[in-house]
Amino acid sequence: MESIEIFIEDKDGTEKILEIPLGIQMSLMEVLRGENENIQGICGGMAICATCVIELLNKDELEIPEMQDDELSVLESLPEHSENSRLACQIPISEKLHHLHIRVPETVFV
Ligand code: FES
Repeated sequence: MESIEIFIEDKDGTEKILEIPLGIQMSLMEVLRGENENIQGICGGMAICATCVIELLNKDELEIPEMQDDELSVLESLPEHSENSRLACQIPISEKLHHLHIRVPETVFV
């Protein structure tokens, strides 16, 4: 596999396909930052700012890397989050993300 496909759901429910080459040593935040204005990544991937929150829509179908304690505490500090919320900066690009479906919240309260 040379690349993976990720599906980004719009607010109207339509999905955009993003093709990402493998082997680029980037996080999902770094890729999404160029695609969606609501992904800001202000802290540069340090799991501090929460400006890279996404919702994983099919996480149970994939082997997404598990959440660490620092990511969990940032997410729990947000007024709005769910069990599907993740910090995109804590998810490295890998073939495990192939066919991941995500939604980017319209507003992130930090
Ligand atoms: S970029 Fe700051 S928490 Fe992800």
